[in-house]
Amino acid sequence: MPCNRHPFKSSAPAKIILLGEHAVVYGMPAIAAPIQSLRAYACAQPSDTMLSIRSVELEKSVAMDAPLPDDSARPMQQLLQIASGHFGVRKPTGNLVIRSDIPFAGGLGSGAAVSAAAIRALAALFGRGIPNEDLNQLVFEMEKIHHGTPSGIDNTVVVYERPVYFERGKDLELLTVERPCHIVIADTGRAAMTREAVGRVRQRYDERQSETEELFLRIGQVVSDARHALECGEQGRLGALMNENHRLLRQLGISSPELDELVDASIAAGAMGAKLSGGGMGGNMIALVDGSTVQAVRRALSLAGAVSVVDFVLN
Ligand code: PMV
Repeated sequence: MPCNRHPFKSSAPAKIILLGEHAVVYGMPAIAAPIQSLRAYACAQPSDTMLSIRSVELEKSVAMDAPLPDDSARPMQQLLQIASGHFGVRKPTGNLVIRSDIPFAGGLGSGAAVSAAAIRALAALFGRGIPNEDLNQLVFEMEKIHHGTPSGIDNTVVVYERPVYFERGKDLELLTVERPCHIVIADTGRAAMTREAVGRVRQRYDERQSETEELFLRIGQVVSDARHALECGEQGRLGALMNENHRLLRQLGISSPELDELVDASIAAGAMGAKLSGGGMGGNMIALVDGSTVQAVRRALSLAGAVSVVDFVLN
């Protein structure tokens, strides 16, 4: 990223939802964790011209008050407006460049990470600090633009960069992971928009409310049991709960043949548990492994069609 003169640089991590996606939108708990090694980056540089933003991946640039070439650049412009509005900077100047190593539309929180990195860099450009609490709120505003009705879990884990036990509207609870968990993440290669997956679940909820609520309650129970397993270092139990969570998400209708195939392949290769992660209908799945199974599971996932496989240790 070209950023030579007085740059203000920042970054934020990707995230996985370990358990509880979708039900979390309806008030159930969920557990999420940052992936420190996979990040989005922002670099803000002072200039005399109206504040502008350039996305390396989208190959788009837009200035804060300029007419838009097309709607796809609107969220980038809104990011500048939301940040400048928060800091009360009336005629901001400077250039912001955003770049991300996190796959887009993969359920790994790329949107939240880009927003968090960008707003931190803008805060520094404006000569201001930003407490995590305020940043969390601003990134949540951006999540609403991207997703419609987000639960708030993505922005929370990406801003605090710690494993969280999240319940909508409740105080933040950081989680202690007793025994490091080795997680493999595999990408189906099918891009999936969280907004669509959330809409599909909403439709199911509207059509079959009591049955869908029952599924949410069961997911909520799985998540609270998994919290206990994580805090006590019971990995076998955690794996079984991930499997159960995937089964419930399938019933909710947001898995896909590709996701199911990767989940089955990882279990057959020795993973302790596996499930889709994030919005579903494509995107990424996760598997819980240990030192002796990680390579076999990685290989099995590639053979089963994953377009990328990475692993990391959650602690
Ligand atoms: O697809 P992602 O990484 O944005 O995860 C979305 C998680 C959901 O529970 C499906 C939605 C939400 O806002 O919590």
